[in-house]
Parts: sequence; C-alpha cells; structure tokens
Amino acid sequence: MKRAVYPGSFDPMTYGHLDIIRRAADIFDELTVSVLNNKEKTPLFSVSERVKILEEATKDMPNVRIDSFSGLLINYARENNMHVIVRGLRAITDFEYELQIAQTNRILSCEQVDTMFLTTSLEYAYLSSSSVKEIASFGGDISRCVPEFVARKTYGKYGVSKPDIPPHAAEGLKG
Ligand code: PNS
Repeated sequence: MKRAVYPGSFDPMTYGHLDIIRRAADIFDELTVSVLNNKEKTPLFSVSERVKILEEATKDMPNVRIDSFSGLLINYARENNMHVIVRGLRAITDFEYELQIAQTNRILSCEQVDTMFLTTSLEYAYLSSSSVKEIASFGGDISRCVPEFVARKTYGKYGVSKPDIPPHAAEGLKG
C-alpha cells in the first residue's frame, strides 16, 4: 500500500491545490491531505473549516482522506505510515524554500521519507491562497481561483456581499 501525505495550510484550498490532489491521488493508493494547525499564524479559516472545505471538494475521490496535524510533519508522517510527502511547485520562486524543507525532512526522517514534487498545471501557476484572500477582501473576482462554495465562504469572511464579478463568472455563484 503506497501512502502519501499532501500537507499545507490550505487557507483556503484553491483550484491549484485541487489539481495536485487529483494527480497525486492517481499515483498513490491512499493520499491524505493534511491541514497544518499552526498556532503562530492567524488563518482566515479555522482548521475545522479548512478540513470541511477539503472534504467537500474531494468527496468524489475515494482514496483521498482529509486530516490535520500539528508539530513536525515528519513525526506525523511516521506515525501514520506515510513514506512520501507531496508538494506542488508553481515556479522557480517556490523551489528554494521547498528544496530546503524537503532536505530537512529527509534528514529528520533518517532518509525514510521522501518528498515528491508535482509541477502545478500552467493554468493554476499564478494562484496562491494569499492572493485569493487579498482579491476577495477587496470584493474582486475569485471565481477562477476556487470552487464556488469556497468563494462564497471567503467573501463571507470579509463581509463582501456583492463581489465585483463579471456576469459570465457570476452564473456559477448564484443560488
Ligand atoms: O501551505 P504551506 O503553508 O506552504 O505548507 C507548509 C508546510 C505545512 C508544508 C510546512 O510549514 C510544514 O511542514 N510545517 C510543519 C512543521 C515542520 O515539520 N517543519 C520542519 C520542516 S523545516
């Protein structure tokens, strides 16, 4: 059984994350998407809200489960018998940070856990949770960045009732 973990903040989950989840789920027998419970950061969505969003978005993927963790990723991976960490790479700017974390994790795990990078599909290469939050906070259009139910929740967090969405994109947000 090949088990992998896709860790992250997912605050909130974007189409870019979903793309990595789908592709990793095709490679591994079981993929756990795990939300980091980081006490040092103040997220927009609570851990349980982020877990619920991921559960809803992946409900059609039978080998994907959603969880959360705190502390060292490598301890969590070891305790759950996961030997591969999956991360998405959007651009060269991600690489230095990701390489450092991957190498640290490999050493911390006594070379038992490896990191596998999937390059983000080009159409999502520009996407980040931070930019989604910034755009939503100003009432801008995030309909191409996150699923409709996530967009609704994100606007809700900022008290944006009438986002500035072009008519064709707004169709998906009605109802
Ligand atoms: O979505 P993010 O915020 O880029 O995810 C970062 C994450 C969760 C992969 C990373 O911060 C992490 O693994 N944190 C847990 C603490 C840890 O294990 N640190 C050691 C690596 S330096």
